[in-house]
Amino acid sequence: MRIDWADVLSEIEACQKCRLRAGCSRTVPGEGDPHARLMLIGEGPGGEEDRLGRPFVGASGQLLDKMLSAIGIRREETYIANIVKCRPPMNRQPAPDEAEACLPYLRKQTALIRPRVIMLLGATAAKYTISPEIRITRDRGKWVERKGVWMMPTYHPSALLRDPALKRLAWEDLKAVRDKLKELEEVPEP
Ligand code: URA
Repeated sequence: MRIDWADVLSEIEACQKCRLRAGCSRTVPGEGDPHARLMLIGEGPGGEEDRLGRPFVGASGQLLDKMLSAIGIRREETYIANIVKCRPPMNRQPAPDEAEACLPYLRKQTALIRPRVIMLLGATAAKYTISPEIRITRDRGKWVERKGVWMMPTYHPSALLRDPALKRLAWEDLKAVRDKLKELEEVPEP
Protein backbone atom coordinates (compact mmCIF):
# COMPACT_ATOMS: atom_id res chain seq x y z
CA MET A 1 0.00 0.00 0.00
CA ARG A 2 1.35 3.41 -0.94
CA ILE A 3 1.06 5.96 1.84
CA ASP A 4 1.48 9.69 1.45
CA TRP A 5 1.72 12.56 3.90
CA ALA A 6 -1.43 14.32 2.77
CA ASP A 7 -3.49 11.16 3.34
CA VAL A 8 -2.03 10.49 6.78
CA LEU A 9 -2.58 14.08 7.89
CA SER A 10 -6.15 14.16 6.66
CA GLU A 11 -6.90 10.76 8.25
CA ILE A 12 -5.64 12.12 11.59
CA GLU A 13 -7.66 15.29 11.19
CA ALA A 14 -10.87 13.34 10.47
CA CYS A 15 -10.26 10.57 13.04
CA GLN A 16 -13.04 9.65 15.45
CA LYS A 17 -11.68 6.21 16.35
CA CYS A 18 -11.58 6.87 20.09
CA ARG A 19 -13.11 9.09 22.75
CA LEU A 20 -10.16 11.51 22.88
CA ARG A 21 -11.22 13.45 19.77
CA ALA A 22 -14.45 14.61 21.38
CA GLY A 23 -12.59 16.02 24.37
CA CYS A 24 -9.76 17.91 22.66
CA SER A 25 -9.69 21.20 20.77
CA ARG A 26 -7.68 19.99 17.79
CA THR A 27 -5.46 17.14 16.66
CA VAL A 28 -1.68 17.38 17.06
CA PRO A 29 -0.28 15.18 14.29
CA GLY A 30 3.40 16.02 14.78
CA GLU A 31 5.82 18.32 13.01
CA GLY A 32 9.31 18.62 11.67
CA ASP A 33 11.49 17.49 8.80
CA PRO A 34 9.63 14.77 6.84
CA HIS A 35 13.04 13.23 6.08
CA ALA A 36 14.49 13.64 9.58
CA ARG A 37 17.27 11.30 10.64
CA LEU A 38 16.14 11.69 14.26
CA MET A 39 12.53 11.17 15.30
CA LEU A 40 11.24 11.91 18.81
CA ILE A 41 8.10 10.32 20.16
CA GLY A 42 6.25 11.49 23.26
CA GLU A 43 3.03 10.44 24.94
CA GLY A 44 0.29 12.83 23.89
CA PRO A 45 -0.51 16.54 23.59
CA GLY A 46 -0.87 18.64 26.75
CA GLY A 47 -2.70 21.94 27.19
CA GLU A 48 -0.42 24.18 25.12
CA GLU A 49 -0.10 21.57 22.39
CA ASP A 50 -3.89 21.25 22.25
CA ARG A 51 -4.23 25.02 21.98
CA LEU A 52 -1.64 25.41 19.21
CA GLY A 53 -1.90 22.09 17.37
CA ARG A 54 1.86 21.55 17.72
CA PRO A 55 3.76 18.91 19.72
CA PHE A 56 6.02 19.76 22.66
CA VAL A 57 5.47 23.51 22.83
CA GLY A 58 4.74 23.75 26.58
CA ALA A 59 7.24 23.61 29.45
CA SER A 60 8.48 20.12 28.57
CA GLY A 61 8.88 21.20 24.94
CA GLN A 62 11.08 24.10 25.96
CA LEU A 63 13.28 21.73 27.92
CA LEU A 64 13.35 19.34 24.97
CA ASP A 65 14.51 22.15 22.65
CA LYS A 66 17.32 23.02 25.09
CA MET A 67 18.39 19.40 25.39
CA LEU A 68 18.51 19.02 21.62
CA SER A 69 20.50 22.20 21.18
CA ALA A 70 22.99 20.91 23.77
CA ILE A 71 23.84 18.12 21.30
CA GLY A 72 23.89 20.51 18.36
CA ILE A 73 20.50 19.58 16.92
CA ARG A 74 17.79 22.06 16.03
CA ARG A 75 14.21 20.99 16.60
CA GLU A 76 13.41 21.68 12.91
CA GLU A 77 15.88 18.99 11.86
CA THR A 78 13.92 16.33 13.75
CA TYR A 79 10.39 15.04 13.49
CA ILE A 80 8.40 15.16 16.73
CA ALA A 81 5.24 13.13 17.23
CA ASN A 82 3.24 11.47 19.97
CA ILE A 83 1.63 8.10 20.64
CA VAL A 84 -1.81 9.76 20.65
CA LYS A 85 -2.67 12.75 18.50
CA CYS A 86 -5.43 14.13 20.74
CA ARG A 87 -5.04 15.51 24.25
CA PRO A 88 -6.20 13.10 26.95
CA PRO A 89 -8.45 14.82 29.52
CA MET A 90 -6.54 16.27 32.50
CA ASN A 91 -3.33 15.14 30.75
CA ARG A 92 -3.89 11.58 31.94
CA GLN A 93 -2.01 8.73 30.27
CA PRO A 94 -3.66 7.44 27.12
CA ALA A 95 -5.69 4.27 27.77
CA PRO A 96 -4.47 1.16 25.92
CA ASP A 97 -7.41 1.20 23.48
CA GLU A 98 -6.76 4.88 22.70
CA ALA A 99 -3.08 4.23 22.05
CA GLU A 100 -3.86 1.17 19.89
CA ALA A 101 -6.40 3.14 17.85
CA CYS A 102 -3.85 5.88 17.17
CA LEU A 103 -0.73 3.78 16.57
CA PRO A 104 -1.38 3.12 12.86
CA TYR A 105 -0.86 6.86 12.23
CA LEU A 106 2.49 6.84 13.99
CA ARG A 107 3.52 3.74 12.03
CA LYS A 108 2.65 5.46 8.76
CA GLN A 109 4.54 8.61 9.80
CA THR A 110 7.58 6.51 10.70
CA ALA A 111 7.39 4.64 7.39
CA LEU A 112 7.33 7.94 5.50
CA ILE A 113 10.15 9.58 7.47
CA ARG A 114 12.41 6.50 7.63
CA PRO A 115 14.46 7.91 10.54
CA ARG A 116 17.75 6.29 11.46
CA VAL A 117 17.27 6.94 15.20
CA ILE A 118 14.12 7.21 17.31
CA MET A 119 14.19 8.60 20.85
CA LEU A 120 11.26 7.46 22.92
CA LEU A 121 10.38 10.06 25.49
CA GLY A 122 9.00 8.31 28.56
CA ALA A 123 7.44 4.99 29.42
CA THR A 124 4.28 5.36 27.34
CA ALA A 125 6.21 6.01 24.13
CA ALA A 126 8.59 3.12 24.81
CA LYS A 127 5.85 0.71 25.84
CA TYR A 128 3.82 1.06 22.65
CA THR A 129 6.75 1.05 20.27
CA ILE A 130 9.37 -1.27 21.76
CA SER A 131 7.62 -3.57 24.23
CA PRO A 132 4.98 -3.49 26.96
CA GLU A 133 7.67 -4.89 29.27
CA ILE A 134 9.78 -1.73 29.13
CA ARG A 135 10.60 -0.14 32.49
CA ILE A 136 12.01 3.30 31.91
CA THR A 137 14.30 3.38 34.98
CA ARG A 138 15.75 -0.01 34.04
CA ASP A 139 15.79 0.28 30.25
CA ARG A 140 16.55 3.91 29.50
CA GLY A 141 19.69 4.42 27.51
CA LYS A 142 19.58 0.90 26.03
CA TRP A 143 19.46 0.60 22.25
CA VAL A 144 16.96 -1.58 20.45
CA GLU A 145 17.51 -2.05 16.71
CA ARG A 146 14.63 -2.93 14.41
CA LYS A 147 15.15 -3.20 10.65
CA GLY A 148 18.08 -0.81 10.76
CA VAL A 149 16.28 1.78 12.92
CA TRP A 150 17.90 2.42 16.29
CA MET A 151 15.51 3.16 19.11
CA MET A 152 16.31 4.38 22.59
CA PRO A 153 13.97 4.95 25.52
CA THR A 154 14.80 7.87 27.77
CA TYR A 155 13.07 9.95 30.40
CA HIS A 156 10.20 12.18 29.35
CA PRO A 157 11.19 15.87 29.70
CA SER A 158 8.33 16.36 32.18
CA ALA A 159 9.96 13.74 34.44
CA LEU A 160 13.15 15.82 34.27
CA LEU A 161 11.21 18.92 35.25
CA ARG A 162 9.77 17.06 38.24
CA ASP A 163 13.08 15.51 39.25
CA PRO A 164 16.11 17.47 37.98
CA ALA A 165 18.44 14.80 39.41
CA LEU A 166 17.46 12.64 36.42
CA LYS A 167 18.95 15.18 34.00
CA ARG A 168 22.41 13.68 34.34
CA LEU A 169 21.19 10.33 32.98
CA ALA A 170 19.14 12.02 30.24
CA TRP A 171 22.28 13.84 29.20
CA GLU A 172 24.12 10.50 28.87
CA ASP A 173 21.28 9.27 26.65
CA LEU A 174 21.43 12.38 24.47
CA LYS A 175 25.16 12.05 23.98
CA ALA A 176 24.65 8.41 22.96
CA VAL A 177 22.05 9.56 20.41
CA ARG A 178 24.42 12.18 19.02
CA ASP A 179 27.18 9.54 18.72
CA LYS A 180 24.84 7.01 17.07
CA LEU A 181 23.73 9.56 14.46
CA LYS A 182 27.38 10.30 13.72
CA GLU A 183 28.26 6.61 13.50
CA LEU A 184 25.33 5.95 11.14
CA GLU A 185 26.57 8.63 8.74
CA GLU A 186 29.15 6.04 7.70
CA VAL A 187 26.59 3.26 7.28
CA PRO A 188 24.44 3.11 4.14
CA GLU A 189 20.67 3.33 4.68
CA PRO A 190 18.99 -0.08 5.13
N1 URA B 1 4.12 15.79 26.39
C1 URA B 1 4.07 14.88 25.40
O1 URA B 1 4.25 13.70 25.61
N2 URA B 1 3.85 15.32 24.18
C2 URA B 1 3.67 16.59 23.88
O2 URA B 1 3.47 16.90 22.71
C3 URA B 1 3.74 17.51 24.93
C4 URA B 1 3.96 17.11 26.18
